[in-house]
Amino acid sequence: MPLPTYRAAIVGLTGIGGARPATDPALPVYHPNPASHASAYHLHPRTELVGVCDLRQDALEAFRQRWQEVWPAMRYYTDFGRMLEEQKPDLVSIATSDHTHAGLTVAAAQCGARAILCEKPIATTLADADRMIEATQSRGVLLSVEHTRRWDPLFLKVRQLIHSGELGPLRTMVVELFTKRAMLFRNGTHLIDLFTFFAGTDPQWVVAELEEGFDDYSEYRGDGGRDPALEPYASAYIRFEGNIRAFFNSYKTAFPTSQCILTCEEGSIQISDQAARLAKGNSRHELWTREVSPDSFLHTRQLGAVDELVHVLEAGGDLISSGREARKTLELILAMLASHCRGNVRVDLPLR
Ligand SMILES: NC(=O)c1ccc[n+]([C@@H]2O[C@H](COP(=O)([O-])OP(=O)(O)OC[C@H]3O[C@@H](n4cnc5c(N)ncnc54)[C@H](O)[C@@H]3O)[C@@H](O)[C@H]2O)c1
Repeated sequence: MPLPTYRAAIVGLTGIGGARPATDPALPVYHPNPASHASAYHLHPRTELVGVCDLRQDALEAFRQRWQEVWPAMRYYTDFGRMLEEQKPDLVSIATSDHTHAGLTVAAAQCGARAILCEKPIATTLADADRMIEATQSRGVLLSVEHTRRWDPLFLKVRQLIHSGELGPLRTMVVELFTKRAMLFRNGTHLIDLFTFFAGTDPQWVVAELEEGFDDYSEYRGDGGRDPALEPYASAYIRFEGNIRAFFNSYKTAFPTSQCILTCEEGSIQISDQAARLAKGNSRHELWTREVSPDSFLHTRQLGAVDELVHVLEAGGDLISSGREARKTLELILAMLASHCRGNVRVDLPLR
């Protein structure tokens, strides 16, 4: 019997929702893993994109021009509710601005979607995150949040090494983000999410300082993530359960870089998007290091997220980037705002 195909739909058709990677004549059959939801559905053998939605006609038209020959029967919508009603998708991708995820996720869950892949951050308020989690969980709908590194083979390999105990217990995590777009909600969320990803325990309290000029920034006041001037960067100290200390440092710089240093009792790992290096030894003079090589995975990034949803729908299990995990990351960001606004004080979690 043939395996079932899942009907998919996307709302939000900018690059992350709708880009089509250029084909490379040097790779006639193989494809690099994609960097958009549309290309993930294109490459996944068990999904078919049946509808796309955007408020903007020009975004719909650009999508049509890019993908027409792949999906000639595609239906185009400006009304998300109508798309859900008419197409009854199993999988729904939410790739709209940061502060619009909640209403669309709840509507998709109410309309019968079986799994939702929502862009990061999960939302910009805890109330929104909670209604997304409630609407999906109460209906048995899967909610996955697209913090991309959670499906990256190098980050997964490092997490495996940390959790294996080979380096002893994890003690400190240092995460840095430097780019013109080092805004907390929009880009910081990717890096702050690494803390819970690697720690495997919950954060207990936070102290933070925001970018100058954001002294009264007690709640999200961005525009969905387009203008970096509307969202601050931050430096923060986070205490995790299990005596794990985490340091987040970010700054809006012209030079873009990010990295993470995980130090355990008996060794450490330094990881960036390009490489990871493990260091181990008993003294400064007897230190050895080695490159960490990722295991090969069939699917990574958005394609990894889609593949995981198909797998968990059929076989059950936990998602690597569930709504609950992403809520922890949002709570950390909001705790940073609260700490700064209250005079850079310690803020205990859960946030009240
Ligand atoms: N995972 C990643 O690496 C990555 C990269 C880029 C963006 N993102 C995330 O993707 C999301 C989208 O980012 P963006 O920069 O494209 O945002 P954007 O605001 O520029 O574009 C969002 C698109 O969604 C459409 N839209 C908004 N509300 C809608 C609605 N109710 N119905 C239909 N269409 C609607 C808009 O018309 C627009 O075309 C954000 O949450 C962002 O954080 C993630």
